[in-house]
Amino acid sequence: MRVLVTGHQGYLGTVMVPILQRAGHDVTGLDSGFFADCVLGPVPVDPPGIRVDLRDVTVDQLAGFDAVVHLAALSNDPLGALAPRITYDINHHASVRLARLAKAAGVRRFLYASTCSVYGSAGHDLVDESAPLRPLTPYAESKVRVEADVAAMGDESFCPVFLRNATAFGFSPRLRADIVLNNLVGHAFLTGNVRVLSDGTPWRPLVHARDIAAAFLLALDAPAAMVHCAAYNVGAESNNLTVADIARSVVDVVPGAKLLITGETGADPRSYRVDFSKLRDELGFEAKWSIPDGAAELYKEYSGAGLTAEDFAKKFTRLPHLEMLRASNILDESMRRVTRAA
Ligand SMILES: NC(=O)c1ccc[n+]([C@@H]2O[C@H](COP(=O)([O-])OP(=O)(O)OC[C@H]3O[C@@H](n4cnc5c(N)ncnc54)[C@H](O)[C@@H]3O)[C@@H](O)[C@H]2O)c1
Repeated sequence: MRVLVTGHQGYLGTVMVPILQRAGHDVTGLDSGFFADCVLGPVPVDPPGIRVDLRDVTVDQLAGFDAVVHLAALSNDPLGALAPRITYDINHHASVRLARLAKAAGVRRFLYASTCSVYGSAGHDLVDESAPLRPLTPYAESKVRVEADVAAMGDESFCPVFLRNATAFGFSPRLRADIVLNNLVGHAFLTGNVRVLSDGTPWRPLVHARDIAAAFLLALDAPAAMVHCAAYNVGAESNNLTVADIARSVVDVVPGAKLLITGETGADPRSYRVDFSKLRDELGFEAKWSIPDGAAELYKEYSGAGLTAEDFAKKFTRLPHLEMLRASNILDESMRRVTRAA
């Protein structure tokens, strides 16, 4: 298939593209390149790509593709809270516009990177895809709105699929330090401490970046009648863990690391345990990566590349990096590039 991957120069895109290519897909990327240079270790080989803001994509740029895998977004809660209007402009309006233009261009399948954050604070019971959506942030709300608006476009010529990913973990050359396991391993590596800034009881579902890519591959190849307008949680029940459990896995793999649970009331009210049986039963998905394996992988990569505290806090953390791009006049107030693309 000819596949357009938006956000191909992000954390997940950089891992997903080679997996789609190895499966035989002909991949083109589309990205504004916010994090193109935020690389740890050897520079990855990107596919041919279009450097354009999602808000400015034209129908011509979408012609000739069989499928769009839509990853591009302002991708975390703190950023969404700081700039909710821009989050809605990019994550909601531009995503719906992308789907509309893709359909007009004759693209038949549209895979959307949604999130398990759509369930909000769901307590102890496992939530499946039919659970009420209770988004707690503009980021999660934008994902809910895209699912609804793009589902309404589905017909015999256009097959949207919504992949509600658990929080990702694991190494990507375009690392993200602001997601829980990557963050805890980084702090343990850099400071010797694993600090949990809460009582550690909130539940988090996690999934490795490569397992997410495998799920997208299955959704790309599945018969349209099976996945048409369907939502799938992406992850594994065995990786539904409390933040304290996640932290203990980190202590186990980082030599000398000490666990510190501060017991404060956490700033992040999310807590949910997720049922992943639909993706397993319908598409045969099995997550391959456990938290201890992911923590060990991250520790090895951080050590091998000589990760520094400065890069960890700035280059690999989405919000400060975007603030730096704005302060340097590379992005304007609306997060559009003001300088010519390299
Ligand atoms: N990483 C996770 O834990 C996780 C979990 C659930 C869902 N998701 C979703 O998966 C997708 C990818 O996440 P990620 O972790 O790779 O995020 P990321 O921030 O690493 O990558 C996002 C990419 O989108 C691009 N982008 C952002 N705004 C753009 C715009 N206006 N125009 C063009 N490109 C733009 C960025 O340059 C970046 O390369 C996102 O939609 C995110 O919401 C991620």
